[in-house]
Amino acid sequence: GVNTFQRVTPSQLRSMTGRKGKPAWSSWQGKVYNITPYLPFHPGGEAELMKAAGRDGTKLFMDVHPWVNWENMMTTCLVGVMVPENHGTA
Ligand code: HEM
Repeated sequence: GVNTFQRVTPSQLRSMTGRKGKPAWSSWQGKVYNITPYLPFHPGGEAELMKAAGRDGTKLFMDVHPWVNWENMMTTCLVGVMVPENHGTA
């Protein structure tokens, strides 16, 4: 369908933890991804990937596997881009 590219604030990202019926989002270099659909496929397991839920996953990711290409693998899970707190749409 039509992709709605969202502006996501830090507080909105923090609320997307994968709990209470919401998907888990994680940011990577300023872009926001829905990691929920990828959870069953993550070679490192769901629990490891969920450590990045609701937060910037860049450092966790780079500490473990800097050779993996997050952007390429997660293209279809792109939600939008991080913006400062008072610039969001939510
Ligand atoms: C393994 C993808 C996030 C922890 C892997 C592998 C891929 C992958 C492709 C296999 C790498 C290889 O064998 O060379 C991703 C993607 C992520 C993500 C696309 C983000 C959307 C994370 C995060 C953590 C993590 C945030 C830790 C907090 C691990 C671990 C392994 C692994 C520990 C090694 C599993 C093993 O070898 O037994 N991940 N990962 N990953 N990942 Fe991730």
